[in-house]
Amino acid sequence: MEINSIGIVGCGLMGAGIAQVALEAGFEVTAKEIDQPSLDRGLARIQAQWDKAVAKGKRTPDEIAGFRARMQGTLQWTALADCELVIEAVPELLELKLRTFKELDRCLAPSTVLCSNTSSISITSLIAGLGPDRHPFTAGLHFFNPVPAMPLVEIIRTVLSSADTVQALQAFVARIGKTPVLAPDSPGFIVNRLLVPFILDAIRCREQQLATTADLDAGMKLGCGHPMGPLHLSDFIGLDTIANVAEVMFEAFGEPRFKAPSLLKQLVAAGRLGRKSGSGFYRWEGELRLEPVAL
Ligand SMILES: NC(=O)c1ccc[n+]([C@@H]2O[C@H](COP(=O)([O-])OP(=O)(O)OC[C@H]3O[C@@H](n4cnc5c(N)ncnc54)[C@H](O)[C@@H]3O)[C@@H](O)[C@H]2O)c1
Repeated sequence: MEINSIGIVGCGLMGAGIAQVALEAGFEVTAKEIDQPSLDRGLARIQAQWDKAVAKGKRTPDEIAGFRARMQGTLQWTALADCELVIEAVPELLELKLRTFKELDRCLAPSTVLCSNTSSISITSLIAGLGPDRHPFTAGLHFFNPVPAMPLVEIIRTVLSSADTVQALQAFVARIGKTPVLAPDSPGFIVNRLLVPFILDAIRCREQQLATTADLDAGMKLGCGHPMGPLHLSDFIGLDTIANVAEVMFEAFGEPRFKAPSLLKQLVAAGRLGRKSGSGFYRWEGELRLEPVAL
């Protein structure tokens, strides 16, 4: 089972990052979006990374032209038909992912490997509605943000994933220069099972006025050696994504530590989603983090 062409559904924060690393590793990439403005934003996000790499002398314009020549953006499901691996990276909403998997099942060749980049939803629940012939070719492929910089990928092997599928994914992850770990098909897998309650606790502490946003983040950054504080990290991930992940994990485990704090829900309802919307716990100007927002 050799993989050379990759399809990506959803070219947002994660999909664009996955497309970028796959192109840089020599794969053909087709990215499917929901409408033209979203597709343009996704492609511009990738181009902005390449412009920075050229400005820093890490890449040449010729290399970038070579990457771009292997990239196709589309709004059509059928454009994914010839891909050997398709990675779904639409928002963390069960109904949307189920619909996406149904569409993909209809348009992909029977032996295409079909994966989700979900942060928390059980892969088995996503594939339950698909025909049994598809099941061996499915798994989870969970990247970390920002994709070009983070070396880990969790491969989620369900009881239905075939050994060939897992092996093909391990080879794919190695070819893009990342380290795979095998994770169980349990909500949140390995990393988010530990990380999400920590982030939610930090938001609860902020809600209870334990400390200011800046002091809370400085505490964990300087006191524990974290690369960024948990509220900064929340803005980076996207507060809507965290709220959706919390909902899935709370429903799965029923433990209060997985419950989304009211402050998180309020910020999401107000459209303050973190870096991607220009404000969350901090104000943002593009990728530049500015001062904390008064809460
Ligand atoms: N943000 C993170 O730090 C992070 C980390 C790991 C995994 N994830 C997971 O990755 C997935 C995507 O998260 P994100 O942060 O990239 O979200 P995002 O909102 O930045 O991007 C999602 C993209 O999907 C597109 N989309 C929606 N419906 C679509 C459809 N039917 N067809 C094609 N495109 C469609 C949207 O237009 C959007 O561009 C989620 O499952 C999330 O849990 C996120």
